Amino acid sequence: MGKFVVRGGRRLEGVLRVHGAKNAALPIMAASVLAASPVTLLGVPKLRDVDVMIEVLQSLGASVAWQDDALTIDPRGIHQYVIPQELMLKMRASIFVVGPLLARLGHAVAMQPGGCSIGDRPIDIHIYGFQQLGAKVSETDEGTRLDAEKLRPNTIHLSYPSVGATENLMMAASLIAGETRIRNAAMEPEIVDLAQFLEKMGAVVRGAGTPDIRILGREVLHGVTHTVIPDRIEAATFILATAATGGHLTLENCIVEHLPGLTGRLRELGVEIRVDDGDRVEVWAPERYRTVPVSLHTGPYPGFATDMQAQFMAFLLKVPGVHIISERVFENRLGHARELRRMGAQIVADQRVALIYGGRPLHAAEVRALDLRAGAALVIAGLMCDGETVIQDREVIERGYEDLDGRLRALGADIEKQ
Ligand code: EPZ
Repeated sequence: MGKFVVRGGRRLEGVLRVHGAKNAALPIMAASVLAASPVTLLGVPKLRDVDVMIEVLQSLGASVAWQDDALTIDPRGIHQYVIPQELMLKMRASIFVVGPLLARLGHAVAMQPGGCSIGDRPIDIHIYGFQQLGAKVSETDEGTRLDAEKLRPNTIHLSYPSVGATENLMMAASLIAGETRIRNAAMEPEIVDLAQFLEKMGAVVRGAGTPDIRILGREVLHGVTHTVIPDRIEAATFILATAATGGHLTLENCIVEHLPGLTGRLRELGVEIRVDDGDRVEVWAPERYRTVPVSLHTGPYPGFATDMQAQFMAFLLKVPGVHIISERVFENRLGHARELRRMGAQIVADQRVALIYGGRPLHAAEVRALDLRAGAALVIAGLMCDGETVIQDREVIERGYEDLDGRLRALGADIEKQ
């Protein structure tokens, strides 16, 4: 595995255009399985996870090709409903094709997918929802097999507002004639983007972005062209890197409304954030931060996003005071605290809660990216301190960040990949 080498102590300054959202692109790519004709997607980031989803779609029989920055998916050749195990294990998001396959072919095989080391990531809520739509579930040595002669519309109440389960069930319901209702649904912006894509294909989706989503499905959906929304977590990562290095950043293609819980806190701490017309956001960080204790917990949208928790923890090392972070979405997503301690950070943490003693000096060290967001947090910490920080397993970070080093260098950072 490769590494990033960061020589910190420099302010980030400049203009950054935010890429399309990985977590919008992956379910929408899976939703193309529902279409009876080709789909063209714009704004899809060129990431390892996107490459894996392309492999998954091709393994099912779809033809997928990049044409410059447009990704074209022709689902007409899809005939296979068992995803190769090695692909399922590579990326949890491969679970997103199960709903569309079940709706299109009447069969699908799901298995405990792979993914990051942040928790055991069960799929029980997905399976429960498919059963509510009439699927028969059986355990086989290939994995959990789902069969449904004909899916039927129904009202499904999710035990937890799971992003993936909401998306999977929205996609399956879009090919079922009649109204399906999802209660206690996830409300993330990526859900709304998927709903817009499904509507373009011919389904009727009401209430996306609220806990109560109604889908009026159709027997046939047609291929469309769609541009995915900007990546709010990428935007948050660069905003926090700027705040952590005393920098000044202008972001283009950034929807600040998608960052609830971040901009308000940063402003309280003295970061100046100005939103220009529509999608330009300007961020100025103060030279130094006042001593302010910060208490934060992650939660489903519009709560503080778990995907920016690690990056926020790294930033808090710059803010004098005692801070507390409670990770309430995943059961094991504070592993980066241990890696930050190698850099001198004063953090005590168990699996769910971390106490951060901010404003203390950090030093360069050799650290490891445990998951993509933890890795991004280590890059931020490396940017904050003098000396040469080496971050192992850079490929883990590149699952979710396109050309991270090139874009940071364009903002004045001294970072290279090896
Ligand atoms: C999506 O994962 C994102 N991934 C994650 O981003 C993100 O952290 C997560 O939503 C929460 O916002 C993609 O969109 C590709 P969940 P997902 O189902 O769908 C439990 C990143 O960094 N759960 O909302 O897997 C689960 O264990 C990635 O880009 C069940 O118990 O998230 C977790 O504790 C990481 N049973 C919680 O719910 C289920 O059937 C939230 O999971 C499903 C989930």
